Amino acid sequence: MWRSCAPLTILAVVLVTPLSVVAQGCPTSQTSLAEQLVNAFNGVFGVHPGMRANHPKGVVLEGTFIPTAEAASVSKAAHLQKKQASIPVTVRFSAGSGQPNVPDTSQMPRGMAVKFSLPDGSKTDLVVLSFNGFPVATAEEFRDFLLAVGASGPDAPKPTAIEKFLEAHPAAKHFVESPKPQPVSYATLPYFGINAFKFTNAKGAVTVGRYQLRPMAGEHFLTQEQLATMGPDYLSSEIRKRVRRGPAQFKLLLQVAEKADKIDDPSIAWPDSRKQIELGTITITKAVADSQAAEKNLLFMPGALVPGIEAADPMIAARSASYIVSLSRRAQAQ
Ligand code: HEM
Repeated sequence: MWRSCAPLTILAVVLVTPLSVVAQGCPTSQTSLAEQLVNAFNGVFGVHPGMRANHPKGVVLEGTFIPTAEAASVSKAAHLQKKQASIPVTVRFSAGSGQPNVPDTSQMPRGMAVKFSLPDGSKTDLVVLSFNGFPVATAEEFRDFLLAVGASGPDAPKPTAIEKFLEAHPAAKHFVESPKPQPVSYATLPYFGINAFKFTNAKGAVTVGRYQLRPMAGEHFLTQEQLATMGPDYLSSEIRKRVRRGPAQFKLLLQVAEKADKIDDPSIAWPDSRKQIELGTITITKAVADSQAAEKNLLFMPGALVPGIEAADPMIAARSASYIVSLSRRAQAQ
């Protein structure tokens, strides 16, 4: 069992991520919470050696990002400056479940992770979900949510732990009960950053916001009849075929917080009326040849940031720490 970030740091650096980024994402005091979170995922979904503790089923693609002229007014981050050429990106779409073989026909949120490769050799990540809001406000509450799910098997006495948890946490009940329509494609879903970040531009002006990714193909969902004809891996097959025909594109937007908005509570979605700033366009052009080999060495972390962007919600550091624990365990099992 890891007791500090040091071995994890070495491992993550060897694989993909700069030291400064890992240090930012993994304060020593959060290591044991990170382990508890990964253990709690394992309690719900089982241990699958070599696989991610959450979102193990995914598909890796490549493309580019081009920022808008307006993006530099929000942040001095290297990838948000118009003057440079397009930024290479690696994208992983995933099923929002800890089950490696979950059928794509199951109702669940989907994940999208984007790694920007910056001109100076550094990297920064975006890790987003196709649902606007999180079940709970903090990482500790998320651990308790997962523990309650894990303790609520078919033979658990009524009311089950998760029934009690949902009764006491209306946002979690809303998250669980909200319909999650089945997408035609990973490229026809909107994705949401959920956690807030603080952006600083070259003049020192600060903007706090949450990312949104809007599919340029539009939002399209399957009818029940269409869904019944789909196979268990229809989403990964579809996106591979789609990018062979032409690019899949997303607008990257920033939803700007107003004074009334809670920055550190990802369970509350901000109103749609909030100002949105267009930061750029992600253009996905091809699937990698061997997605399973590629994803093994990839670590996407919400706390992998560059100057000009900082975490504004404490959940981001807790997430990053748990992603590193998951990485260390999957790397050890390979
Ligand atoms: C306390 C809250 C959270 C915890 C503990 C958590 C934990 C994890 C873990 C352990 C992984 C596997 C990491 C790996 O092995 O590389 C993961 C993956 C992922 N998570 Fe989270 N997560 C949290 C919140 C969120 C939120 C708020 C979002 C979206 C806004 C999100 C989106 C994703 C996505 C898309 C992946 C797959 C990344 C990839 O493709 O490698 N998670 N999460």
